[in-house]
Amino acid sequence: MPQHTFTIGETDFLLDGNEFRILSGALHYFRIHPDQWRDRIHLGKAMGLNTIETYVPWNLHELRPGRLDFTGGLDLERFLDLIAAEDLHAIVRPGPYICAELDGGGLPAWLFDDTTIRLRSSDPRFLASFDPYLHAVLDRMVDRQIDRGGPVILLQVENEFGAYGDDPTYLQALTDRFRRAGITVPLTTVDQPTPQMLRDGTLPELLTTGSFGSRATERLRTLRQAQPTGPLMCSEFWCGWFDHWGAHHHTTDAAQSAAELDDLLSAGASVNIYMLHGGTNFGLTSGANDKGTYQPTVTSYDYDAPLDEAGRPTEKFWRFREVIGRHAALPPLPHGLPTDPAAPRQPFRTPEPVPLSPVRSLDSALAEVPFTAVDELPTRDALGIHRGLLRYRITLDGDDRPAVLRLSEVRDRAWLRLDGIPVGTLAREDHESALWLPRSRGVLDILVEDCGRLNYGPRLGEPKGLIGPAQLHRGPEVRELTDWQVGEVPLERIVEATPDGAAGGPGAWIHRAEIPLDRPTDLALLTDGLGKGLAWWNGFPLGRYWRKGPQTTLFVPAPVTCAGTNELTLLELEVLTTEQVRFAPDLRLGPTEE
Ligand code: GLA
Repeated sequence: MPQHTFTIGETDFLLDGNEFRILSGALHYFRIHPDQWRDRIHLGKAMGLNTIETYVPWNLHELRPGRLDFTGGLDLERFLDLIAAEDLHAIVRPGPYICAELDGGGLPAWLFDDTTIRLRSSDPRFLASFDPYLHAVLDRMVDRQIDRGGPVILLQVENEFGAYGDDPTYLQALTDRFRRAGITVPLTTVDQPTPQMLRDGTLPELLTTGSFGSRATERLRTLRQAQPTGPLMCSEFWCGWFDHWGAHHHTTDAAQSAAELDDLLSAGASVNIYMLHGGTNFGLTSGANDKGTYQPTVTSYDYDAPLDEAGRPTEKFWRFREVIGRHAALPPLPHGLPTDPAAPRQPFRTPEPVPLSPVRSLDSALAEVPFTAVDELPTRDALGIHRGLLRYRITLDGDDRPAVLRLSEVRDRAWLRLDGIPVGTLAREDHESALWLPRSRGVLDILVEDCGRLNYGPRLGEPKGLIGPAQLHRGPEVRELTDWQVGEVPLERIVEATPDGAAGGPGAWIHRAEIPLDRPTDLALLTDGLGKGLAWWNGFPLGRYWRKGPQTTLFVPAPVTCAGTNELTLLELEVLTTEQVRFAPDLRLGPTEE
């Protein structure tokens, strides 16, 4: 492979000494089925890009401490090789913190077991915690750098650190690790363009770049004031936005967004379009925000990007291509791509509705999974059970008088049953932490869902589960509840559950459907009629669904489907109002706001 130099000039990036403008688009390999990586990269090139950017998610690569995984959908090297095969450059952002609307902002939940570690700081325990991961990533990057004949032209250190902390020792320790590992290409940081954030988020030896989606001239001026020389770059040109459960679907006007891109490019800046294609928060990978109210992020990461959640060009794709064409040479369009921007997107196939049947209750599927006795009410972090569902149980030895159960906080959603009968739900997003019980005796079961760990702000790394103390209020009398039992909910038990002839009902039930297909195909699974829960297609975790929307479909990528019988498994935590599985001709991401 030919080797090239890539350096920082007085005002521009220099490729082999010549001025070079980065035209990049973000693709998160972990949000796209690996069999669809090539297609999305290829379309990025067709839009006129010369570079593809990705974050690297520490939490997914190191699900358990010391067990690093770079295989299958996490094969970062293969992703970069596909980028190289298209003659594109690559930008890699390994964090260790990445935000990205990802569970915990990419920090693995096991890191939070020790609540005294100062995250994203020069605390030696934090630095040591990411060493194995960072080494593993950087080792894989060294030979893929452009000066060794690979695609990688830039790596980013941390992410918007100026919005979080002020610890140059931490940024220096990180930078030193990159350099010691053999990284020779320029290193960057990204921050929102305020003087304070741009100052606290970087070091003199790192190229400072900005994140914004509008008012380019003004933002570039702020960036220039913070950094008198070097190329100007918007490392996150936000061309859309993400959604929260219970809120509207975000869109940005394609013409307006294209005009903003034109302004940015006319000013001579380099760009990374965030996102070129957002993809999907499969499984339990979505994060959450909290600026006083908890807001969990939805399963779709469509982002209103130029390529939609299913990878199909949208109006934004064509408008961006046209803008890029004003500033750079465009490649010919790939064969088979409709050239009429107004042409409707290719609809999905809609298999006939099929019956959806109860398989067994969650209780029955978990009958063999033991509970552990604990004294005080533990958080899930204290138990080392980091995500998904968790069962708490306590025997109340009161009487027939009603009572109120009061917790400090519920993170994030709890379903309560007294002697097996549902008595209510506690929702964190509604600031609920107390519930009345019809009597103060009986076995109280509480199923708790982690709806996504915060990925931004000072509460990053907060403990999850039920937060104590737990009290029982009966009249004026208050009693602290101790002697709990806690149980895991291994998700493989749900996917593998076999029918036990039970009839179904409200509460946590496993349901299944069989969908015949004559060939693999992308599908939009309708979630109308489903309550709240998780879905798997042929064992692949499609993600969370929730009646409150905004999205009312789940994206099923073609590579997880097969010709023949396909199996859909649902874990419904509330109640179904349908006995059928249905499909839509398109993804439904919900109502938008003017
Ligand atoms: C910031 C972060 C990204 C992402 C976007 C919003 O710019 O750097 O990781 O969270 O906001 O989508």
